[in-house]
Amino acid sequence: MGHWWQEQTVYQVYPRSFNDSNHDGMGDIPGIIEKLDYLTALGIGVLWLSPVYKSPQKDNGYDIADYKDIDPLFGTMADMDQLIVEAEKRGIKIVMDLVINHNSDQHEWFQKSRQRIDPYTDYYIWRDGKDGGPPNNWTSFFAGEAWQYDDMRKQYYLHLFATEQPDLNYHNKAVIEEVKDIIKCWLDRGVHGFRCDVINIIFKSSLEDGKRQLVLKGLEHYLSQEGNHEILQELRRDVLDHYDCFTVGETVLVTPKMARDLCDPSRKELDMIFSFEHMEADQYFVKWFKRKFQKKVFFETLSKWQKELHWNANYFENHDQLRSVSRFGDDTRYWMESATMLATLLFSLKGTPFIYQGQEIGMTNFDFQSMDDIQDVESHNVYRFLGRFHLPKWLRWRMIFKSSRDNVRTPMQWSDSEYGGFSTVQPWLKVNSNYHTINVANQFHQEGTIWSYYQTLIHLRNNDQTLIYGDFEKMYIDKHVFIFRRYDEQEAYIIAVNFSTKKRTISYRGDVLISNYNTTRFNGVLQPYEAIILKG
Ligand code: NOJ
Repeated sequence: MGHWWQEQTVYQVYPRSFNDSNHDGMGDIPGIIEKLDYLTALGIGVLWLSPVYKSPQKDNGYDIADYKDIDPLFGTMADMDQLIVEAEKRGIKIVMDLVINHNSDQHEWFQKSRQRIDPYTDYYIWRDGKDGGPPNNWTSFFAGEAWQYDDMRKQYYLHLFATEQPDLNYHNKAVIEEVKDIIKCWLDRGVHGFRCDVINIIFKSSLEDGKRQLVLKGLEHYLSQEGNHEILQELRRDVLDHYDCFTVGETVLVTPKMARDLCDPSRKELDMIFSFEHMEADQYFVKWFKRKFQKKVFFETLSKWQKELHWNANYFENHDQLRSVSRFGDDTRYWMESATMLATLLFSLKGTPFIYQGQEIGMTNFDFQSMDDIQDVESHNVYRFLGRFHLPKWLRWRMIFKSSRDNVRTPMQWSDSEYGGFSTVQPWLKVNSNYHTINVANQFHQEGTIWSYYQTLIHLRNNDQTLIYGDFEKMYIDKHVFIFRRYDEQEAYIIAVNFSTKKRTISYRGDVLISNYNTTRFNGVLQPYEAIILKG
């Protein structure tokens, strides 16, 4: 009735932090192969691999220097081919990260472009400066100006992310042809789709100054432009449609209308998108300004997106966000309850569920001690940038500590042996010190654990057409409780979640399909952080 990518659960692997097989402190592809049986046991059908391409690793691989080669840090192309084959044997499809808004300043195209060597001269967005400064007032997602002067070419280039990540020029048809070739090459190798990095900002319609605004000046010239849609349609028509694959777009600052234009099936662009609005329920304006988690906003936002899109890519965690149990739950008093409650919510929304490594065992935010414990380029840029405004060190540290992406990037906690069983040597980023208690070995195949709850949920959803395809209807929302219905002609479920430390009474009763409190007959009282799916 639908597509395989609607029915499966996607598991995101952040390779450098997943499993280190060669004892260098860095996760690698053979390490992933070793853990495929683990993923099969969990019930995973699709594995999304964050970038493993050759890269100077300024942004942990999101700065690609060669799209057709594997970084030696992670292994070889032969390892990659083996991963694809071994995964396929277990019924797991591999999805790669496609980063085409920008690549690395070490990429051969950029090196040649700097020297004006054709055909690469116009592969990037180069301009002369203006009035002794950059060509326009645009700012970068990673803080500061979005332009960098290049001494060799004697021009500025645009970089919406780190300085070492120059943006590609999509007014140049040759760039689109290169991208098609890359996509084709990976599909021919046996991957089944792509998670497309910041895919709604690749086309810049003009390089005029941006309107006055605090951050992201220039946005109106590149967010979801018509040219962007044309490129996506072309990639789909000329390449993707000829394979059994899917695409999920990471779409920054997307509105429901923009999202529909990107993933309405009739438009033949993307299959689904990651929206961000529900992840903004604990911030003012940008993630560095945290506020108390606004549960009602979170519920209303999820509900709105369920209604607005025919299909969602549902997620509470990824390599850029925080750990959901620390962020939306209570990682001390109700660690188990809140982790399993969040899981229930995630798996009962309409759409493809995406989980991020470690989420299935309730890994928590990192216990950093100082900036020295942080590696992320974004965190360091922002820390430096805020220093320009004389913000005291303690305040900057506090902002970084609460929002840094390294919170989720700590090594996977496999066991309570040294370094969490991730490696035998000091890993590239410290292991969270709670690995002694929170680890796979403590939970794998053991009843009453977060891991086995995820396993049960995945199995349940995989085999339930109503949970997969049924319609969504909001029933009730308040400051703590979210209730909705999923239904089709055969079946109907009521899902109720309690995001609070107090009991809450609701006006539903009945037999329970699943509950994180093992309730079988529900009498109307939700326990702290309880989640239930009621039958009929
Ligand atoms: C989004 C990716 O998820 C993030 O990790 C990266 O830093 C930026 N795009 C730039 O590629």
